Amino acid sequence: MKKTEEAHGAAKQYMKGIAVLLIGGIGIGLGVMYSGVINVAASYPHSSLTQWGLHTAMKQSVRYHASDIQAPALDQPEKILNGFRHYREMCTGCHLAPGLASSEIRKGLTPKPPKLQQTVNTWTPAELFWIVKNGVRMTAMPAWGPSHNDEKIWDIVAFLEKLPGMTTAQYRELDKQAGQGDGDDD
Ligand code: HEC
Repeated sequence: MKKTEEAHGAAKQYMKGIAVLLIGGIGIGLGVMYSGVINVAASYPHSSLTQWGLHTAMKQSVRYHASDIQAPALDQPEKILNGFRHYREMCTGCHLAPGLASSEIRKGLTPKPPKLQQTVNTWTPAELFWIVKNGVRMTAMPAWGPSHNDEKIWDIVAFLEKLPGMTTAQYRELDKQAGQGDGDDD
């Protein structure tokens, strides 16, 4: 009997300790937030730990959310050309392209948009579709779903699939074939 009371007492003390720690932790967190010392400047890079944490969360989230998406046939010249038109209009400023080494907007972004030519083949077409349609919150990556239907987004993915290994000459050739259009009907 006495032993159970003692055990209860110890458990209560333990719970109290946890509550004090939790409230203390929340208090410190709020204190840091309200003090203004967190630097939100885009000119100030993420620490490598923050960068790793954000990118890992992003990768896992994309893999999870894209797992049910079925890609249509993408290797069709008309789809690729139309995707090129969208890419040239909407993506090159941030993600560059063969023959385009830098841009003014890209220099000022944190996190830095990846050079897609080097990273697209780490994603499946379904994952690329999900990223382009939904964007990535708290980064500069916009969601293109609100302004483009699924067919147009698959066209962009069809073009992205051709991007690894594309030479500047091949990119310029597409540029010529694509004319002036931006891939939208309006
Ligand atoms: C204003 C800048 C900006 C524009 C415009 C933009 N993106 Fe992004 N994009 C980003 C940033 C920043 C990231 C990195 C997000 C992150 O770190 O999680 C990103 C990430 C991506 C990724 C994931 C790449 C990887 O390897 O992690 C893909 C794919 C992508 N964008 C495709 C596109 C396409 C296609 C377009 C045009 C339709 C586009 N983006 C337009 C800024 C932009």
